[in-house]
Amino acid sequence: MTKFILGVSGSLRKASTNSALLGAAKLLAPADLDLHIWTGLGELPHFNPDIEDAMLPEPVLSLRKLAASCDGMIIACPEYARGIPGTFKNALDWLVGSETFFDKKVALFNASPRASAAQNALRLVLTTMAAEIVEEACIAVPLITKLRSPQDIANDAEMAPLIADALNLFAAKLDKAVP
Ligand SMILES: Cc1cc2nc3c(=O)[nH]c(=O)nc-3n(C[C@H](O)[C@H](O)[C@H](O)COP(=O)(O)O)c2cc1C
Repeated sequence: MTKFILGVSGSLRKASTNSALLGAAKLLAPADLDLHIWTGLGELPHFNPDIEDAMLPEPVLSLRKLAASCDGMIIACPEYARGIPGTFKNALDWLVGSETFFDKKVALFNASPRASAAQNALRLVLTTMAAEIVEEACIAVPLITKLRSPQDIANDAEMAPLIADALNLFAAKLDKAVP
């Protein structure tokens, strides 16, 4: 059965290496993974629990709906000042109250192998939100020094198998979760 995967980039940059990595993953995804890349990060308002109790803004509702309905999530997030970029932590904070991460399988795709602090911080935050990090599907792909298009990455003889293997391992883990 086809699995619906939400791809989330933690970068707002047009030339984002993390967004390009997700784009390549979409091109390389096996037929049973429908990878939808969410692009609403920049539309989210600042998280405020008072708003959460009242009427939720449309971008938040839309994110919560996608996060709740997906079978798994692939997150590609940069490191800023040895931590998670504020814009992306804001998105995660909007998802805390909705409990959408409970038992949700998550793979972390990292476009910069030197950026380990943000990856560790993400692991802590996501497991606190009850997500399950699928470690065998977490990868670091060295894109930081050169900008490449998703198609270039998907055509690269070294990077493409790394990404394809991670996607296949993620798909296998999702299959096991089906009762
Ligand atoms: C404000 C800022 C802080 C950064 N801090 C770090 C850092 O602590 N460690 C690191 O490895 N890279 C750091 N970087 C480099 C980014 O991780 C790098 O530019 C990366 O490509 C950004 O991801 P993107 O290409 O998806 O936008 C920083 C970049 C910016 C703009």
